[in-house]
Amino acid sequence: MKKILLERYGEPHEVARCVDVPDVGAPGAGEVVFDVLAFPINPADLWFCRGHYRLKPPLPATPGAECVGRIAAVGLGVQAVAPGDLVINLQRENWAQRRRVREADVVRVPQGLPLQQAAMLRINPPTALLMITDLVALEPGQWLLQNVANSAVGRWVIRLARARDLKTLNVVRRESLFDELRTLGADACLVDGPDLAQRAQQAVGGAAIRLALDAVAGQATARLADCVADGGVVCSYGSMTGEDPVMPRGALIYRGVRLEGFMLGRFLERRSRDEVERIYADLAGYLLRGELQAPVAQVYPIEEIGEALRHAQRGERGGKILVAPNGPVA
Ligand SMILES: NC(=O)c1ccc[n+]([C@@H]2O[C@H](COP(=O)([O-])OP(=O)(O)OC[C@H]3O[C@@H](n4cnc5c(N)ncnc54)[C@H](OP(=O)(O)O)[C@@H]3O)[C@@H](O)[C@H]2O)c1
Repeated sequence: MKKILLERYGEPHEVARCVDVPDVGAPGAGEVVFDVLAFPINPADLWFCRGHYRLKPPLPATPGAECVGRIAAVGLGVQAVAPGDLVINLQRENWAQRRRVREADVVRVPQGLPLQQAAMLRINPPTALLMITDLVALEPGQWLLQNVANSAVGRWVIRLARARDLKTLNVVRRESLFDELRTLGADACLVDGPDLAQRAQQAVGGAAIRLALDAVAGQATARLADCVADGGVVCSYGSMTGEDPVMPRGALIYRGVRLEGFMLGRFLERRSRDEVERIYADLAGYLLRGELQAPVAQVYPIEEIGEALRHAQRGERGGKILVAPNGPVA
């Protein structure tokens, strides 16, 4: 079988190689084996390849924070899944044709899910959901603000906020995205820039913005902090610039604005297995009903991992880059 190996950390398209390795073997008691049908290349995977992610395992290492797979075989005592079931894997190292993991590592998802979308279900949708629900108790009609609004996370934020009657002010890098985001449910859109706070106030008609979600960092964090109301929260959950967030001390000290961090794992850990399964079932419902489709720019075979990684690093992509290790998927 094939899998992606890093023998050194560096530029993703230079260090990630597709290699032949022995098969994962038959599942032991309590284990399952699944074929990986598709995985996305997320920003965190790129940081992982560069050796700049919070996890930096000894080499050689296999990246891959998420995927969708189909169960091929189950070991003794496995009850939650059966051969043929579609699953997402809660563990890493998914850039491979096959995986052998513990039964508890996989979550079964509905059979009818579009596979490309299912490959992106594990991380970005619950990230959007829990940032909306867990950080600030927002009431229907209230505004939240976010940058990278056209990212996969950003699109889920728009959709999930709309479903809760929350209003979204969406900051992006180019005006040409506005129509698309409005169609998705965005209430207002702005291009990031120096006078963001003034334009944001006009866009929300002077209403209080109590939550801002930041995945750009650097000075972009400071611009969001200037937009939120006194006592509001700026949540740092990513850094597309690779910089640390800059927080104006006036916002912190005089206006009581709080800077909080979000990491999906920390927020899922607070929940029981049943609650986690319910979250994924609810989010899968959006995909089944066709209420949100994260755009996909291109799907590559696993042998073309280098080209896929190059493509994933281009700005202004038309959507996610996916890899289908066992043949094309829809
Ligand atoms: N903390 C967590 O638990 C968690 C979980 C999931 C994701 N995340 C983070 O969420 C963010 C979005 O992830 P995703 O998978 O949704 O992303 P994605 O779909 O791959 O989209 C990337 C986005 O980043 C924007 N971007 C790229 N470089 C930028 C820069 N230098 N300045 C400003 N914007 C830039 C892109 O804008 P253009 O279209 O203009 O290029 C695009 O909107 C990432 O930072 C990721 O690490 C965090």
